Amino acid sequence: MRCRGWIWAALVCAAAALAQSSRSVWDGTFTEDQAKRGESVSEKECVNCHGAALSGGEEAPALEGAGFLSNWNGLTVGDLFDRIRKSMPQDDPTRLTRQQDADVLAYILSLNRFPAGKTELSAQSEVLKQIKIEPAK
Ligand code: HEC
Repeated sequence: MRCRGWIWAALVCAAAALAQSSRSVWDGTFTEDQAKRGESVSEKECVNCHGAALSGGEEAPALEGAGFLSNWNGLTVGDLFDRIRKSMPQDDPTRLTRQQDADVLAYILSLNRFPAGKTELSAQSEVLKQIKIEPAK
């Protein structure tokens, strides 16, 4: 019976969509390898302004810790990704690829002590917009 198959598929789809829409940074949204790649991007492209381990430089703010997280509380990883894509590195925001931005974002999430998981963070902002930034679990 063909339509039973369809109903089943629709249900699975709806469940998947629901599970996705309620994801947060606590759900293991990047891998450790990705965060390591992001760390090398950061060493080259971000620490000169944002300070060692992105803990804050002379003019640029820390990208980890309570102050940073409260700026992004309730927004999504996609919003943060877009912010980086459009404005960072401040001296030339076009220099990095989407993949490098996603990797550096994975590193920033790891610095903020969110857990790594089994799949890499996507480089698509629509996908990243489904992951909420919640400072506390
Ligand atoms: C030339 C210096 C410079 C470089 C290089 C740079 N930034 Fe920035 N960044 C700044 C300054 C200054 C600010 C604060 C002013 C502003 O918001 O534009 C900032 C702000 C930010 C913010 C917003 C912080 C918040 O609390 O909302 C993020 C995120 C960010 N930078 C990420 C990055 C990343 C990731 C890199 C490396 C790919 C990077 N920046 C490289 C100077 C820099």
